[in-house]
Amino acid sequence: MKHHTLLLRVDPLDPETAAISRAGEVIRRGGLVAFPTETVYGLGANALDAEAVRRIFAAKGRPLDNPIIVHVGRPDDLATLVEDVPAQAFDLAETFWPGPLTLVLKKTAKVPDVVTAGQETVAVRMPRNKVALALIRASGVPIAAPSANLSERPSSTTGDHVFHDLSGKIDLVLDAGPVEIGVESTVLDISTQPPAILRPGAVTAEDLEPIIGPVLMGAQKEVLARSPGTRHRHYSPRARVVLIEEEGPAAVERYTIEGGKIGIITRRPDLYPDDQAFVVQAMPADLEQYARQMFAALRLLDEEGVSQIIVAAVEETGIGVAIMDRLRRAASDK
Ligand code: TXA
Ligand code: MG
Repeated sequence: MKHHTLLLRVDPLDPETAAISRAGEVIRRGGLVAFPTETVYGLGANALDAEAVRRIFAAKGRPLDNPIIVHVGRPDDLATLVEDVPAQAFDLAETFWPGPLTLVLKKTAKVPDVVTAGQETVAVRMPRNKVALALIRASGVPIAAPSANLSERPSSTTGDHVFHDLSGKIDLVLDAGPVEIGVESTVLDISTQPPAILRPGAVTAEDLEPIIGPVLMGAQKEVLARSPGTRHRHYSPRARVVLIEEEGPAAVERYTIEGGKIGIITRRPDLYPDDQAFVVQAMPADLEQYARQMFAALRLLDEEGVSQIIVAAVEETGIGVAIMDRLRRAASDK
């Protein structure tokens, strides 16, 4: 269905009431609203309205077997979505909510099957972005929202990215400029023990373990089986992505497969000569700043029309674990 997509700019710290109530109204009547969260932009619909949630899958071209996170405005809202909320969930919510942690728990009958892709569990998080919280409260319902990008493509970290991917397919974009974190939330499955990180994010295993004890990590086989999102291709620009450990023009030459212009994403731009064959995206040394710019860098190189993108690995500490997870998946063909 062809839509006119309205773009409303809002103040990230003090969102305008008129824009928020208008967006809340769109959600209440079954429409689609893209909105900023602290991680990435989300594409939201009323989580309790199966028809509205189906529209999300259609707009993104998302496979129906990939479940969607439900966003709540208060930790107490867990009770309507989750069966017998365990004490562990309250402990985690108290420490990390609002914030970039998603909890996977046993769902209640109130949650439509389309949200959970027919699974018995539902993923829930309370974001801390002011626009997101205001929208959830104005709509008066929990909001189901995947990242606001076309399926398989890099997530959107600005309102422009959202508009580029979804204009004509959704009702409204609340544009509050660039997001705070830049990679999606940590997804933690606590529906079975031990807890498992299905997707790394800004909340790390080291942050979680003091509160809930040892957690399994996503690369472990038993964890992969619990994580539907990992079956699909992800975060991929049109250009082929190659992740390299060593840096510099010699390494780049060894890994060049395609003809044409080569994009390079690096924290060492000084290593690369000013050369028409290279389009260099210089990244910040600091990993948190790197995370904020990562998806934008992939998107920019696509706009430059490069045939291949060569990305240098970063150290896997702190948010570096999440960065490397996204880069590996951008570089994989699956
Ligand atoms: O930061 C975020 O989490 C952003 C913002 C908008 O909140 N959302 C986001 O949604 O990244 P999405 O749909 O792009 O990624 C959700 C991930 C997928 O890997 C999905 O498979 C997983 O969460 N997921 C959702 N429900 C699940 C469930 N019941 N069990 C296991 N994994 C689930
Ligand atoms: Mg996504």
